[in-house]
Amino acid sequence: MTEEVMEAEEARETGVTEEPDIATAAAPAARPAPTADPAARPASAAAEDPISLRGATATLGGRPVLRGIDLTVRRGEVVALLGANGSGKSTAVRSVVGQVPLSGGELALFGIPRRRFRDWARIGYVPQRTTAASGVPATVREVVSAGRLARRRFGPPRKADRAAVQRALELVGMADRARDPVGALSGGQHQRVLIARALAGEPELLIMDEPMAGVDLTSQEILAGTLREQVAAGATVLLVLHELGPLEPLIDRAVVLRDGCVVHDGPPPKAVGQHALPGHDHVHPHAAADAEPIRTGLLT
Ligand SMILES: Nc1ncnc2c1ncn2[C@@H]1O[C@H](COP(=O)(O)OP(=O)(O)OP(=O)(O)O)[C@@H](O)[C@H]1O
Ligand SMILES: [Mg+2]
Repeated sequence: MTEEVMEAEEARETGVTEEPDIATAAAPAARPAPTADPAARPASAAAEDPISLRGATATLGGRPVLRGIDLTVRRGEVVALLGANGSGKSTAVRSVVGQVPLSGGELALFGIPRRRFRDWARIGYVPQRTTAASGVPATVREVVSAGRLARRRFGPPRKADRAAVQRALELVGMADRARDPVGALSGGQHQRVLIARALAGEPELLIMDEPMAGVDLTSQEILAGTLREQVAAGATVLLVLHELGPLEPLIDRAVVLRDGCVVHDGPPPKAVGQHALPGHDHVHPHAAADAEPIRTGLLT
């Protein structure tokens, strides 16, 4: 991984660094319309799949965490990445966005080998909340504005940037908190701000790691609606999820990991979420319905 890429990635992670290298990335060319039916795709489409991971291996702390993963996300698809705690879901998406180096295998983004890929403005990434914690004293609007950095040329934000930030804030229901420091937010609100930051960049490919974790049911429905609009507008989405929940109707395909290997790639498991998946062995309390409607393993 080059320093250049690492800097850009750190900027996206913290959301506060001014003008990282990704700000100079070229604006993407006009995007072709998504093709919903993979069978109807022209042969050349495969070369431009937003994500193509082949035989990916990764080792963390001396342990093999990804053990030969194939993961393809085609244009316009909504793919759920499922699996028990520790199965490698976050590591897989972090490798896609360049935060975890692969020890083997191949990764291409939009048909371009990872090493040569520079067009980060095409990708929006919402990290798993626990990895996004920061004590940075930024306001909600500042954090969301960082999602525009890769779209901006040098100079102050333009009208289009400000409008995109405002739209993203409204989409996640945080417009009235725009001036508040992010440190004053609840966990679920913080999560919504991170999602707004990714949406503000108007990416073609959205990668979200447990976007619903810690978000109450009302906000989950709002976010599901937001995502539905993104998909209708042609976005491609990779979601790490514990339970399909309100996003279930949106999911085209599910990839299930177990111990760093893909054990299922096909139709999403029907209305069972995580609990019916192979390898579901983590423990989390099932809260009373009136306390917190949906809990995921992340917070427990
Ligand atoms: N930085 C790290 N150093 C060492 N081991 C790590 C590191 N990050 C993750 N791991 C290990 O890699 C394995 C996979 O972790 P990963 O975070 O990808 O799982 P996950 O499927 O996202 O789990 P969860 O559902 O809890 O988010 C785990 O055993 C974890 O302990
Ligand atoms: Mg994870």
